[in-house]
Amino acid sequence: MSNRTPIIAGNWKMYKTMAEAAAYVNEFLGLVADASGVEIVLCPSYTSLAEVRRLTAGSNVKVAAQNMHFEAEGAFTGEVSPPMLKEIGIDDVILGHSERREYYNENDGDLARKVVVALESGFRPILCCGETDDEREVGNTEAKLEGQLVNGLAGIEASRLPSIVIAYEPIWAIGTGKTATPQIAQETSSFIRGTLAQKFGDAAEQVRILYGGSVKPGNVDELMAERDIDGALVGGASLAAADFARIVNFQ
Ligand code: 13P
Repeated sequence: MSNRTPIIAGNWKMYKTMAEAAAYVNEFLGLVADASGVEIVLCPSYTSLAEVRRLTAGSNVKVAAQNMHFEAEGAFTGEVSPPMLKEIGIDDVILGHSERREYYNENDGDLARKVVVALESGFRPILCCGETDDEREVGNTEAKLEGQLVNGLAGIEASRLPSIVIAYEPIWAIGTGKTATPQIAQETSSFIRGTLAQKFGDAAEQVRILYGGSVKPGNVDELMAERDIDGALVGGASLAAADFARIVNFQ
């Protein structure tokens, strides 16, 4: 870890009804009330966003959306726009999660637009990247990540880079219980920072790089001890308030 303030974000994906989300928040706020020196972010699904935002108002917990369209409005059935999220007080947004890339065909071109619009609209984008098992096996991890970063950040100037968070989520570690070793997660995060430095210079030192992929109470401490890992994007283990609180209170 470094002097970059860590971010621990819980991505609930398509879990929790609004009633379940509210019960979780009521329990969770007490468990993390004393947490300091860490940014805590919950990422509920759209139907719970406004309620979770309302319940966390004035607390040390922020709320992020899991996706966002790049247009302010239009004929895009099923999508949600930046002004809609702003209206309910959302400041952070996950962009380019591997599940969105895989199941909804989001590509780097869409994401480049989303990142620019997110910043222009006052959001902090959490841009995800990561390689598949096959890509790692054949030695394509670096090329894949470099492509995702360079293309996804194509419209960004160096001065804006510190407002962007990168989440490194190796696809083979998501929901599989197969966490990247701290060494692999560190090496890859260091590669990501180096790639950002090549394109943007010193601003890369200020970027928070989160690790995601089977982060749990039992492995968060060793991951967070690594130099270039500035936080975690947690899926499954963020669904239980006590587990996620333990992750937030990493040592
Ligand atoms: P898991 O923590 O369930 O592996 O999910 C990681 C993830 O995709 C977070 O965005």
